[in-house]
Amino acid sequence: MSSPAWKHKKRSASKHQDEALETKKEDGRNPSKDMQNLVELNRAWEKALRSHAASPLAGANGAYRPIGGKTMGLLEALWAKPGRASTLDVGARIASGKIVRFWADPHFGHDNIRRLCHRDEFPDVEAMDAVVLERALEAAEDCDLLVCVGDLSLKNPVREHRRLSDLLGDRHVLLVGNHDVRGASAEQWVRAGALASLAFRVPSALLREWIEEDEPEMAELVEWRRLPKEVPIGCSHWPMPPRRFPGADWLCLHGHIHDRPAKPLRMNCSVEAIGYRPKTLRELVSAQLLADLALRTADPHRFDPEDDADADVDVDAEAGMGAGGNGNLAAGGRTGRGGRP
Ligand SMILES: [Fe+2]
Repeated sequence: MSSPAWKHKKRSASKHQDEALETKKEDGRNPSKDMQNLVELNRAWEKALRSHAASPLAGANGAYRPIGGKTMGLLEALWAKPGRASTLDVGARIASGKIVRFWADPHFGHDNIRRLCHRDEFPDVEAMDAVVLERALEAAEDCDLLVCVGDLSLKNPVREHRRLSDLLGDRHVLLVGNHDVRGASAEQWVRAGALASLAFRVPSALLREWIEEDEPEMAELVEWRRLPKEVPIGCSHWPMPPRRFPGADWLCLHGHIHDRPAKPLRMNCSVEAIGYRPKTLRELVSAQLLADLALRTADPHRFDPEDDADADVDVDAEAGMGAGGNGNLAAGGRTGRGGRP
């Protein structure tokens, strides 16, 4: 029997796609049914994000909505493009050996982010932008997809999005964040081909193989038999509390919290958390993450209590950058706490 597809080294994108399709046919899988499953998976994550947006969180300065009304309007406009996120089929790409990298929150052109999120190594915003772009382009060299999970730029996010598209073609994928809402309309973002969210599945056997190779001493912490055959992963700029996940077997990949550590069942790909170098899923998962997932599949409410402590993970709001165009409900819900600097 041949080795698993994900063990193969990098190959050309078109060859990979053809081979992935052939593999599906050989496996007796139905590509159109797989696509329908992927559409449903993405819709489940969209629904969860709507539910999250409608549920106020308790912050230090009062209750606030995690995603504001204007931002939700943009997300809805992007979700109205049926099946678009599904066509990327990120899980199949990863399982067939292609390299997909994730990053978030570059905040190009945002001088204050150096102070607010401790980017002390950069003397000025120009130096910051140059290094962040250079690291992204270096990481993109071996990439089939480079997925930015939001907050591309404070001032002109559509222009930055086009710049990356010019450099990387359709390998650049953007999931919008709260800062991307500013300065661009929903129509502009729809035309620019941005996404609101993304969901995919990854074989748990592949996750196990990664952990056994990368963290052999930790692999036995994971009750592998409790994991589903394929682990669903939802990507969105905002971290979602596990109680909002579509199911107890989901993981969340997000940005937004910058240099704060991710909570259980979540992976933070903000640039401060990844050394400004976009990471593969293999680099983002850990034995602890999967051990927690196995615990939650056995107890679907596991880790829910920690969500109360999660309420204040909105670094943008805490730093006065606007909590996604929404903000403190007690103050009328017009702005983030304190407004922009
Ligand atoms: Fe951000």
